[in-house]
Amino acid sequence: MKILVIGSGGREHALAWKLRQSPHADRIFCAPGNAGTADVGENVAIPVSDLGALVRFAKENHVGLTVVGPDDPLAAGIVDLFTAEKLRAFGPTKSAARIEASKIFAKELMRAQEIPTAEARTFSDSGEALRYCEQVKFPVVIKADGLALGKGVIVATDLTTVQSTINEMMNERRFGDAGRRIVIEEFLCGTECSLHALVDGKNYLLLQSARDHKRALDGDQGPNTGGMGAFSPANNWDSKLQSRFETEIMQPLLRGFLQQGIQFRGLLYPGLIITSEGARVLEFNCRFGDPETQALLPRMKSDLLPLLEATIDGRIAACSIEWDTRAAVTVVLASGGYPGKYETGKTISGLEEAAKLRDVQIFHAGTKRANGEVKTSGGRVLAITALGETIEDARERAYEAAARIHFENCHYRRDIALSAVAANIDQLP
Ligand code: AMP
Ligand code: GLY
Repeated sequence: MKILVIGSGGREHALAWKLRQSPHADRIFCAPGNAGTADVGENVAIPVSDLGALVRFAKENHVGLTVVGPDDPLAAGIVDLFTAEKLRAFGPTKSAARIEASKIFAKELMRAQEIPTAEARTFSDSGEALRYCEQVKFPVVIKADGLALGKGVIVATDLTTVQSTINEMMNERRFGDAGRRIVIEEFLCGTECSLHALVDGKNYLLLQSARDHKRALDGDQGPNTGGMGAFSPANNWDSKLQSRFETEIMQPLLRGFLQQGIQFRGLLYPGLIITSEGARVLEFNCRFGDPETQALLPRMKSDLLPLLEATIDGRIAACSIEWDTRAAVTVVLASGGYPGKYETGKTISGLEEAAKLRDVQIFHAGTKRANGEVKTSGGRVLAITALGETIEDARERAYEAAARIHFENCHYRRDIALSAVAANIDQLP
């Protein structure tokens, strides 16, 4: 079968790399891809926003399955377009993708199904939002309703920050229409955990747990980023939390979708925070996490392709996944300036030396090949994953690989998975 992966990040390289290993995969295309995806398949120069061109490419090249990486094309209805043309695509429809694309939609669905999440109010008037904040307890969390590249969430500790955030989002439209409406919610204390589930409309199959590191700097300091590293399994997750998660979150959510006449088919990734009272939903994502995918897929022993097909066909209840019991740690190497304005076009060296390390996989994100060299072309440049008998083992090897790679002003966090070292990891079966 010919497979098209849409996107150009580390997540898409990991998906293409994993699908390439399937005995049923004949050719892998990546649109637009990066220097890494060009090694596992063929890059196609179509941007993720050109839905019409993607449909045409899939048709003309007899693509048997298209896997959509990022959220934007899903929110724009790419799966609806593919399906209308009788093309198979993995991912939710536009209507189902609202669970990520509108925080207000997600909150309303959670409220209706009594899914544990932060108490929240929604506003479409900035004056009203400001008046409300004059009497709240700090910190509060302010979220743009729509998609904002992971940057539309601000934790405000004082009224001045609240005022400037509301003004930027709602009046100055820093995130465009995404900030037309906002959610203001209570700040929850705890540690975060990412769960991924293959959802086929009626049933779901959970992947193993993972944790990502969203802040730019060590010690969870600095601004939020797309994710600076991840590890799997998560050290704050166990079978008790998982069983409550299934009954209190997953099952009601699927019920909520069905009550609205929505069939969610694709990857659902609830971002959770584990508070003293149990897991609470921070957000729902409707696609694979980045960089969680780079930590999860190297641990997945089963073939991913039949799992994606079973999700589309409503057969996920009959599937299971075999996992490597070893731990995975993923460290993201970023360009100077990221997550702010960043530099590009820097030559990357040491990739081959790093790849020689045992059980190390280097996933490309913002890279491209030019004049025989691999150059930086994005904020997050590479995601290095190492497997190890313990988290400490995996961590050491990931950092050994990172130290072999160089480009000007490269920066990465030194404390990925550090909190899990020496902790007792509760392995799930
Ligand atoms: P979200 O995109 O909604 O997941 O938010 C991005 C990040 O902001 C989360 O990963 C958390 O680190 C933080 N965050 C969001 N909502 C809350 C909340 N209610 N309490 C504490 N932190 C939050
Ligand atoms: N790792 C965060 C995200 O994919 O949204």
